[in-house]
Amino acid sequence: MNENVKLPAELRIGLVGGGQLGKMLIEASRPWNVKYTVLENDLHCPASSVADKVIEGSLKDAEAIRKLAQECDVLTFEIEHINSDVLLEIEESGKTVIPSARALKIIQDKGIQKLFYRKHGIPTADFVICDSPSDLAKAVQPFAGEKVVIKQRTGGYDGKGVDVVSKNDIASGKFQSPGPCVVEHFHANIAEYSVIVAVDRKGNVVTYPLIEMYFNPQSNLVEFLFSPAGTTADLDSDYRAVAMCAVQALQSPGLFAVELFVTQNAEVLVNEIAPRPHNSGHHTIEGNYTSQFEQLNRILLGLPLGNTEMVQPAAMINLVGGEGQSGKCKLKFTDQLLSERGVYVHLYNKAEIRPHRKMGHITVMADSLQALLEKTGKVREWAVFEQD
Ligand SMILES: Nc1ncnc2c1ncn2[C@@H]1O[C@H](COP(=O)(O)OP(=O)(O)OP(=O)(O)O)[C@@H](O)[C@H]1O
Ligand SMILES: [Mg+2]
Repeated sequence: MNENVKLPAELRIGLVGGGQLGKMLIEASRPWNVKYTVLENDLHCPASSVADKVIEGSLKDAEAIRKLAQECDVLTFEIEHINSDVLLEIEESGKTVIPSARALKIIQDKGIQKLFYRKHGIPTADFVICDSPSDLAKAVQPFAGEKVVIKQRTGGYDGKGVDVVSKNDIASGKFQSPGPCVVEHFHANIAEYSVIVAVDRKGNVVTYPLIEMYFNPQSNLVEFLFSPAGTTADLDSDYRAVAMCAVQALQSPGLFAVELFVTQNAEVLVNEIAPRPHNSGHHTIEGNYTSQFEQLNRILLGLPLGNTEMVQPAAMINLVGGEGQSGKCKLKFTDQLLSERGVYVHLYNKAEIRPHRKMGHITVMADSLQALLEKTGKVREWAVFEQD
């Protein structure tokens, strides 16, 4: 690909995965008239409403990914669970893949990812890898505390594949790991933050302001978040530096979200890196000068990185399916939401609702953090669906 793209860029981007992240990535490219072809196994996927073309196929299917690559100038992905071997082959044949297939291979397997942090001196929760479920009882013994965290090496997402388990339940056989896993020290009462880091094709790096995330204890999904996080400017810059180092060690262009834990002893740990736009960056669409999605488009097109500063304090509330909900649905408080100043509703074009399924999100903006907290409290009450 030409390193010095000038707008208008006549490039076609190939996107593996057509979920909501893909939809918002394509939406952000619209002012620049970029063309997107999406690979997804469902022709009615969220991104289908905005993509120029959808190829129907499995994200694991080498042939389908090769076909996508042939049609496009640059390839990217919006989900980690894809065929990275074929991406590596495509990259080695000279096609631009962003982030690099090599970086994806490190991240795809939580065991390799943790070993990578250890090798590069990146702080992370203590762990051991346990590839044989029958060895689990022995593997958890050295960990202090009553509980450990068991993470499946591959295939987990949105908290699925992650279990906080008592060591007794492992010893008694009540809990059995379904496959090769990482055993991690359980840190109680952590604060969870995220930093979005963008790396362009020349290696220039920018970070977004620190974001504090609040999780739903049942679903393990981000329920809402605030930007800026309620920390001091010093901590904001310290945590951003940790996130930047972790991403730079990957030596790949792309847009990454670094999930951080801050422990009760104020230790900062890297939990994981997502090599793509992230739920914790959705508020940047309205809340920052350059959204995470525009930023990734800039990187894919070889354009300069955009400014990451906040326009105003912002909060993001996930719109998820409620307990017992299924089939067609609509927002219950549309009028209230759309009448409120600084409230933006995003719906992901998913035909069917399910409990905890991410159906959309709401961004709330306000002049001050205090005003934002108050407004977000009110808007959260309206973030519900009703059956159609
Ligand atoms: N070592 C730990 N100590 C305490 N809590 C943890 C630990 N590891 C994970 N958790 C909790 O479990 C959640 C999910 O873990 P993790 O982010 O590793 O999994 P995931 O399935 O990749 O999640 P997601 O896709 O939602 O980011 C974390 O956000 C955190 O709340
Ligand atoms: Mg996570």
